[in-house]
Amino acid sequence: MAGRVRIGRVEDFAPGSMREVEADGTKLIVAREGDDLCAARNRCPHLGLSLTSGPGGQHYADGVVQCPWHNSRFVVRTGENLDWASGIAGRSIPRWSRRVLSAGRRPAPLTTYPVVVADGEVFVEL
Ligand code: FES
Repeated sequence: MAGRVRIGRVEDFAPGSMREVEADGTKLIVAREGDDLCAARNRCPHLGLSLTSGPGGQHYADGVVQCPWHNSRFVVRTGENLDWASGIAGRSIPRWSRRVLSAGRRPAPLTTYPVVVADGEVFVEL
């Protein structure tokens, strides 16, 4: 258990954006909306791939990240799954073929971590 790990200063995270950081060997995505910062593991629960690099490129807007591999979408703050394996590399696929793409895996949330800000320093609780 790593405990509280510093990941930067508040100004390192631009409002309305998301980026990857590494904390004690764990790859995370950190998103900022207004003054609100949140963190989740940078590992899609569908096939365990990166949420920040892949054939569809990084997609983040309004607190929601879309997996660059098969388009699953998640609320970064809560980890909630909004859409599961709905396409490939940002393109949609027919609904009938999504079951094949899901590879037998049921929708699952992101693993999220608490973020603490103290005196402008940002920490994540691992
Ligand atoms: S690995 Fe993310 S949706 Fe498949």
